[in-house]
Amino acid sequence: MKTLTLTEVKSAASILLEGGLVAIPTETVYGLAAPVFSESSVEKIFRVKGRPSDNPLIVHVSSMEQIERVAEDIPYEFYHLAEVFFPGPLTVILKKKASVPPIVSAHLDTIGVRMPKHPLALQLIQEMDVPLAAPSANLSGKPSSTQASHVLNDFDGKIEAILDGGPCIEGLESTVLLLEPKPIILRPGSIEKERIETVLRKKVEYASHLADRPLSPGMKYRHYCPKAKVMLFNSENELANYLKSTSAKTKVIKDLTPETLYHSFRQADLENVEEIAILLDAAHKEHVALMNRLQRAAYFGE
Ligand code: TXA
Ligand code: MG
Repeated sequence: MKTLTLTEVKSAASILLEGGLVAIPTETVYGLAAPVFSESSVEKIFRVKGRPSDNPLIVHVSSMEQIERVAEDIPYEFYHLAEVFFPGPLTVILKKKASVPPIVSAHLDTIGVRMPKHPLALQLIQEMDVPLAAPSANLSGKPSSTQASHVLNDFDGKIEAILDGGPCIEGLESTVLLLEPKPIILRPGSIEKERIETVLRKKVEYASHLADRPLSPGMKYRHYCPKAKVMLFNSENELANYLKSTSAKTKVIKDLTPETLYHSFRQADLENVEEIAILLDAAHKEHVALMNRLQRAAYFGE
């Protein structure tokens, strides 16, 4: 796997044109990219990630014009949101154009679209002049990658290159929003419900992430999980009592931030830790996106 830097966007484009896969930096997490209309490359993304074929990919664009190449019957509300939040960590589910290969959307008639806020990602998409389909650049079920070494760890020898844009500024994946028939947040992210409500001037709901019939295929899968068991604690006392009682190799995290969550999980795996004990404070508990990832990691872990 080649590591390309900011002067090598053109090389990244050539690799994609030749059918190779390139990991790309975004403001949220690294993505594993292929041109949206190249069916065999998209198929390779599913293969190298070990991703279930019923979990759709997000399409990344660098201009509003490109959105109309993958989506149709776009509601006017989408343009209001785009004006405020694009480029940025918001993915909106729209009606898919028939010309987009079904594998991208896992045979759904909808497509998730976002414009990443990272100069290298935008440059590469512009250079290709075609939207890039990209899930997060991690093995399926594992924590997302927030720096080049994480991608290397998961995909060295399996993909052609990474465009190294340094550590991701945000560290958690984008907010995924269904617009129609009514606005529902399928995955919380740093663009919060209230900000979307202000722009749409209507109520937005959260989809329950453990719902029986998930609206977003990704919701039913094990996600964001390190090998170690993730345990959440509400007070120093509770944590101290637990640590006295366990004989497992435990990593304690008391200063968790959204930016460092996945790095901590990945470090724990490298250190062969058996348990990760996380102390939560009031600010953590109010952070909807962070709690969503933590609860899923704790719930789905063995
Ligand atoms: O921040 C992000 O969104 C990152 C960067 C690389 O852009 N990407 C990312 O992709 O997190 P991924 O594949 O790990 O997560 C995409 C989520 C999944 O939960 C998937 O099920 C959902 O979006 N999704 C994609 N297309 C959808 C659709 N048409 N309908 C409902 N959910 C969809
Ligand atoms: Mg993912």
